[in-house]
Order: sequence, then structure tokens, then C-alpha cells
Amino acid sequence: MDDVDEPRPLFPLEPAGAEEPLPVVVDCDPGVDDAVALLLALAAPELDVRAVTTTAGNASLDVVTANAARVLDLAGARADLRLARGAAGPLGRARRERDADVHGVGALGGLDLPPSSRAVADASAVDVLARAVAEWPGEVVLVALGPLTTVAALLALHPRAAADLREVVLMGGAAFCEGNATPTTEFNLRCDPDAARRVTEAGVPLRVVPLDATQRALVGRGTTEPLLASDDARGRAVGALLQHLSTRRRGPDATGAGGEEAAAVHDALAVAALLDPSLCTWVGGGVRVETAGELTRGELVVDTTAGTPRARTGWARTARVAVDADPDGLGRLLLDRLA
Ligand code: RIB
Ligand code: CA
Repeated sequence: MDDVDEPRPLFPLEPAGAEEPLPVVVDCDPGVDDAVALLLALAAPELDVRAVTTTAGNASLDVVTANAARVLDLAGARADLRLARGAAGPLGRARRERDADVHGVGALGGLDLPPSSRAVADASAVDVLARAVAEWPGEVVLVALGPLTTVAALLALHPRAAADLREVVLMGGAAFCEGNATPTTEFNLRCDPDAARRVTEAGVPLRVVPLDATQRALVGRGTTEPLLASDDARGRAVGALLQHLSTRRRGPDATGAGGEEAAAVHDALAVAALLDPSLCTWVGGGVRVETAGELTRGELVVDTTAGTPRARTGWARTARVAVDADPDGLGRLLLDRLA
């Protein structure tokens, strides 16, 4: 990637909650890795999770919402932590449901969590998010772990939200690597490219955690096995979820032959990147999502020269994009917080 003239400084990437817990709201589609991400976020004293909302993606809205409630119960989340239903489908064209084999039975990898009696808010996810952001202007970070339909609706229906949000941390995209939905697109952005485009254009500071980073932060047996043996139910659940995801290999050679089974826990890295940004390697720039490409609809496009004298686009320099990650860092964090 070319060196660029000194770009304008972006928001600082500091570990969350250094002085006091960072208020966050999480939109998700649990989903095996969403569940790990929620358990990590709710176990982190640096974060103050003030609302959880759901968006259809890995499974239907009913399934991801019921799963979120179950995970909140396992996490021991406060009874008054608001859980609200978001979008049941994309803004525009039809979406491909996640293949069941990725997230398994019940979309939690077969993890058998008891049904929850947790109340789901009558208010919509957009209203719950809007209220949380308006109540603490400039303080709340929105963590988006699924399709961006609900987040886009928030920004469209509540224009102040873009100014009041401190930052959006989102798991999505394939910046400079191959996609997992199509050759150039990642599932979350592919599910709803129009919504993703709106989020990238809203002017809100973005911390993007794409496949470039999540597929390098592979979690191996050195993390999964101690978690499975944990005396903490959350740790054992995360161990089981990681086992379900351990379909990749961290091998001694580039082909992946040999080595050990490992898991890409995409959404958990997005939360980890909030807790410890040094786990990832970041580039600054401006980002957009393709919405019209016949072959590339949903592709994340990153202009690292945005905001510099040699800018290739007129996009504002509002994003940091993770282009690499410490292969052992996420595992250490999960063990430290959940084992
Ligand atoms: O491509 C990875 C993303 O798609 C993750 O958020 C996973 O949960 C699925 O939604
Ligand atoms: Ca997800």
C-alpha cells in the first residue's frame, strides 16, 4: 500500500474504559461468534453495555433475538439491560440466509442454553438505540456485529445520532482479501449493501474489523481446551462455541496442512479491538460499500489516501480499518476474561 502524505489525524485508538467504563450498545445476529462477542463484552469491566439489539442475518429475527436473550442470561446481564428487536430483513433486495452449517443447530452451534424469560422491549431497536445515544451524547460506542440494516435505520430516522455517537465499531467487509460471501464481499455487508453504504457515508467515526483481521486472529486449542475445562459456565460455553467454529487450521506451513484446528471468531475480534486496539494493525482512510456492482455489490472499498493532498476520492477520512491481527492476542483475551 503506497505511503501517503501526512493525513489528517483520526480519532485516537486507546484501550476502552481506561478511566471509567465505556458505554456501548451492541447490535448483533447471534450467531456463534456473536455469542462469544456478547459474552466477552459483558465480562469486560471496561465496557458498560447499555442495550443489545438484534438484526436478522445468521438466522431469522425471532431466532437471533431468542439467542441473544439466552446469551444475556448466561452472561448474568442485568435484568434491566434493554434487549430490542431490530430489522427482520434488508433495506432493499432479498438476502441470503446464512447457511445453517456455519452456525449449526439453533444458530448457536448446537449449544443448549435454556430458554430465556428475559423481557424483550416493546420499543423497536431503533428507538432503544436512539434513546441510549441521545441520553449520553458523544459517549456511546455502537458495536455492530451483523448486517447493518438496523444501524442504517437509526441513522436515517435520527439524524442527530450520527453526531451523538462517539464511534461505530463494525465487523464487516473484506478490505484487501477474499470475501466469505462472494469473492469480494463479506456476509454482513453483502446481506444489506444499501444499509452498509449509508453507515459509511454518515460521517460517524468508524472502526472497521474486516476479514483481513478476523481470519488471522485464529483461536486454537490452547484457548479452546482451557475454556472447556473452565469452572465458569460462560467459559465452558465459549469453549463449545469455539469448538464449533474450529473448522480452519493454524498450520506450520502456508497451505494450512498440518498444524491445529482453529476458529475465526469474527465478531469477538471486533469487541476485542475495542478493549485492546493493539491486537490489530490499522490503516486510516475513507470507506464506502459498493451497491450497484453486478459482481461486487456489498464490497468494502477503502481509500487510504482520503483526506490527504493526494486523495484518490473526495471521501472524508473517518475510518480506521484493521488489516491484520495478532494470531494469539484474541485467544489470550478470551482466556483472561472468560476462563
Ligand atoms: O462474515 C462474518 C460475519 O457474518 C459475522 O458477524 C458472523 O456472525 C456472520 O454474521
Ligand atoms: Ca454476526
